[in-house]
Amino acid sequence: MKYVIGVDLGTSAVKVLLLNQLGEVCAEVSQSYPLIQEKSGYSEQDPEEWVNKTITALTLLVKEFDGDIEAIEGISFSGQMHGLVLLDQNNEVLRHAILWNDVRTTKQCEAIYNLVGKETLLEITKNPALEGFTLPKLLWVKEHEPQIYDKAKTLLLPKDYLRFRLTGKLHSEYSDAAGTLLLNVGKKEWSREICEAVGVEFSLCPPLVESHAYVGTILPEIAQQTRLSEDTKVFAGGADNACGAIGSGILEEGKTLCSIGTSGVVLSYEENRDRDFAGKVHYFNHGKEDAFYTMGVTLAAGYSLSWFKDTFAGQEEFKEMLEGLETVPIGANGLLFTPYLVGERTPYADALIRGSFIGVDGSHKRIDFVRAVIEGITFSLHESIEIFRESGKIIETIVSIGGGAKNDTWLQIQADIFNARIQQLSSEQGPGIGAAMLAAYGCGWFASLNECAQVFTKVVKTYEPIKDNVVKYRELFALYKKVYQQTEELSRELATFRK
Ligand code: XUL
Repeated sequence: MKYVIGVDLGTSAVKVLLLNQLGEVCAEVSQSYPLIQEKSGYSEQDPEEWVNKTITALTLLVKEFDGDIEAIEGISFSGQMHGLVLLDQNNEVLRHAILWNDVRTTKQCEAIYNLVGKETLLEITKNPALEGFTLPKLLWVKEHEPQIYDKAKTLLLPKDYLRFRLTGKLHSEYSDAAGTLLLNVGKKEWSREICEAVGVEFSLCPPLVESHAYVGTILPEIAQQTRLSEDTKVFAGGADNACGAIGSGILEEGKTLCSIGTSGVVLSYEENRDRDFAGKVHYFNHGKEDAFYTMGVTLAAGYSLSWFKDTFAGQEEFKEMLEGLETVPIGANGLLFTPYLVGERTPYADALIRGSFIGVDGSHKRIDFVRAVIEGITFSLHESIEIFRESGKIIETIVSIGGGAKNDTWLQIQADIFNARIQQLSSEQGPGIGAAMLAAYGCGWFASLNECAQVFTKVVKTYEPIKDNVVKYRELFALYKKVYQQTEELSRELATFRK
């Protein structure tokens, strides 16, 4: 039996999975790291932590494995998107990475529109200028830390930096490059036109490869530390959402994914490079060659729940905090939550909006708040589904992965709010599985990713929408949507009081 490893470099932790040729998860190890949040709206991480924690996780994974080490044939990566890692001429990291959920760059987004033009930007990158994307972060560094910017020779995305440290080779690949605002998404090449318009050096952009491309073997010192074989083949990997889609079999038209990690996304496969969503949803290259996907993003999905747990449930485990969730009626006894803890992306690209609980009553218990948080996250994701449906997409079945797919009640809530059949897979670790699939396909185990998905993705349970619940949630959703409009101004005024 042969094996591959999928590394999912997430926002809260790195998760490494060992899969065999039957697509069975044989071992998994996770190592967490913190966010660095110096100010409201800022979100950074130390790339060295990613490397150290990944090496630790791989070492622990290999320790658990009792087979022949040479049988671990390949490794690939899934990574949190958009994060800016800057390297100097010696390939040393110049500053902490600025992450996807950092929203300090509203001014830089405006500058991009002025310099490139809204229409040209949409035409080339298929996306609007959003605070979370990489180019605004690069312009922020140029403006605020010119001494660092001047030393920058290479720009990398998080998992591309991790792969560089494991192989010594500098690359990016299309699915992550698509989230930089520097890629011509349709043509699959870095855009000289955008670099010139905004005044950044084209030479910062590393060579591009396909997600399943073989890029080399791991460095001898990494093999020594982790006890992996020096012959372990490394494949480029993809953006976490592209990998989540691969790991969930979202590899043909008509398939939709709901993935709830730190962020939450609703993602739909696109064969076509030219569908027009006018920038309302993101439009990125898939990890499958020459395919695309469209996606709506809730910035604080799982993060809303982990924030609530850390703030109000101390040391409790999630399981404990969620006990009794199913006993709280739909609508959490009149409590609504909007998950705008770090601003929002879809459908409101708004860096200043913040979350709220509406309808707090003296009779509410903590579990009512928990239910309201879960319903609010799901309502937010439903706003993306609405955009897709309004564009003519038929969404009847949705694969659900991530933290939101671990809890039965939440899966039923998804079915009822989305009014769609929800499929749960044998593992909720979509991005890590997608990364392993890229390695499996890269190693030549399968003729295509689609064939690989037939073996690696298994639906274990289906949740059907319950009619009465769908009707109740429809009413609540109309109220939920009013909260944004009615808190927008308040959030803006409160912004001056945030640190
Ligand atoms: C997508 C996005 C997030 C991150 C999370 O545009 O910003 O989903 O990829 O890791």
